[in-house]
Amino acid sequence: MITENILLFPTLITLGKREVDELEKESWFSAYLEQSDKDGNSNEFTGHQSVHHDIRFKRVFSDIADTIRKHLTTLGVDTNMIEVYIQKSFFNVKKNNGNPQHNHKESHISFTYYPYIHESRNQQLVFYQDKDKVGNDIYEEFLDFNVKEWHNINATNYSLPVVEGNIFVFPSKLAHGVNSESEIGDSEYFKTIEELKLSRFCVVGDVVLTRKDTKSYDRLLMPIDNWRKF
Ligand SMILES: [Fe+2]
Repeated sequence: MITENILLFPTLITLGKREVDELEKESWFSAYLEQSDKDGNSNEFTGHQSVHHDIRFKRVFSDIADTIRKHLTTLGVDTNMIEVYIQKSFFNVKKNNGNPQHNHKESHISFTYYPYIHESRNQQLVFYQDKDKVGNDIYEEFLDFNVKEWHNINATNYSLPVVEGNIFVFPSKLAHGVNSESEIGDSEYFKTIEELKLSRFCVVGDVVLTRKDTKSYDRLLMPIDNWRKF
């Protein structure tokens, strides 16, 4: 007798790889210092969420949008009728701290881009399986207690190493975080380029998808031109 493993319902994360030149890195550092508060803090909570409008990074965000279209194409989606809107982007720059598990469920697709990583900052990006969906864990923590060796079939969370130039594209509802040996979650402050050069510099963004026109129905949002505020 033989047995066969049939794997169903994989989760797709698309990884884009860019070359980041020195000029781009300097532009990111300048943008951070321009788009941060007086304490040297910049993230979605400080209201700096519009980095994608900065003309210096037009090529970068265009590459990110291409990675998102590649993600959709891999899923078998016809992107010809779909507009990709980056609706927010912000900095997540850290030296020591990680990031607690969270999701961006209010959007459709999310991305993280790493234009600069100091050699001493090797935090891992971790994705977590949704506990409420059907998975391989027979009940909560069955695998945690009983697995002898982890691999990509039995994993309920998975750490991916992050390399400079990486773009990670993933469903916004997928929980994720950043592991760190020290405290997680707290903001860190950067007031000079020298301080930023010691960081793991991450640009985060959220995307919504719409139809390109109003001529049909396919459960996509309508084009933003069709929206009206009352
Ligand atoms: Fe996130």
